[in-house]
Amino acid sequence: MFANKRLRPAKELLINALSNNVAVGAFNFSNMEMVQAIVEAANEEKQPVILQASSSAIKYMGFPYIRAIVSAAAEVSEEPISLHLDHGKDFEVCKRCIDEGFTSVMIDASSLSFEDNIKETKKVVEYARQYGVSVEAELGTLAGVEDEVIVDSNSAVYTDPDEAAEFIERTSIDSLAIAIGTSHGPNKGLKGNPKLSISTLQKIKDKVGEFPLVLHGASAVYSDAVALCNKYGANIKNAYGILDQDIEEAIKYGIAKVNVDTDLRIAFLGNLRKSLTEKPENIDMRAYLGLAKEAVKLAVKQRIKTFSEIKELTL
Ligand code: G3H
Ligand code: 13P
Ligand code: ZN
Repeated sequence: MFANKRLRPAKELLINALSNNVAVGAFNFSNMEMVQAIVEAANEEKQPVILQASSSAIKYMGFPYIRAIVSAAAEVSEEPISLHLDHGKDFEVCKRCIDEGFTSVMIDASSLSFEDNIKETKKVVEYARQYGVSVEAELGTLAGVEDEVIVDSNSAVYTDPDEAAEFIERTSIDSLAIAIGTSHGPNKGLKGNPKLSISTLQKIKDKVGEFPLVLHGASAVYSDAVALCNKYGANIKNAYGILDQDIEEAIKYGIAKVNVDTDLRIAFLGNLRKSLTEKPENIDMRAYLGLAKEAVKLAVKQRIKTFSEIKELTL
């Protein structure tokens, strides 16, 4: 479907990251400006990047536009990129994305029982293998909103290390998203930044060995970026994200893919609001969208820097 050699299965990028003790940034997109910002940032940082679209983002853009925009991105990029389905809810959604040319899919059957999660995931792996497409699955439950699934923060369950090893063995997946205390969206802690359970991650790594683990809900939710949104009329309350130092620690213990959406939304929104407020006479969308795009690019560069600095294990 995509002829460009820069468009790679995510597995390749993750194995490479793991062997270098770094992680690949996986950034959500919903339009052309986001793709441009993400790919330009990755190229300036000289790092590979994963472009990911959720089911609601796919519904918003449509497959033909996604294919065209991502083909263009692959054409201009000097760095490898992957096109990944974020939180595919069942086999059918994953199959459709594979058929449409995605190079990586996530089957998120984490709300099912362990056995049913394995069953649905295996089905996706068997199909994806025929096309060289990578498969990510999830075990454990993140607090917050996972696309079409809403999870109460009280029911967040850390991934069980023994189950993680068994799950990988029985499904032959390429990467596993785990729950160690992150959650989606801008409210990751009630009164401050949540602490990640690095000890759970260490136990998982001990059981699964050199295997690419994925951290969802990993936005930093920087207070200055939130303050800019609120200064220009937004109402984002109790915003707390994951500390950079926790992300760096997690990368030391096998996190090879870090998912970021909220940070980009906040960067885009704050600068869009600022531009619209400060230049009320402007009617040219390239001016206000251009500023928002540049802010997203800066945010992506900042995150990529954190993820790609080589992490040494100090035991
Ligand atoms: O993990 C969830 C992502 O932030 C996607 O959110 O379904 O609103 O595109 P979305
Ligand atoms: P954030 O909401 O922390 O950006 O997480 C995004 C994510 O995990 C997408 O799958
Ligand atoms: Zn997620």
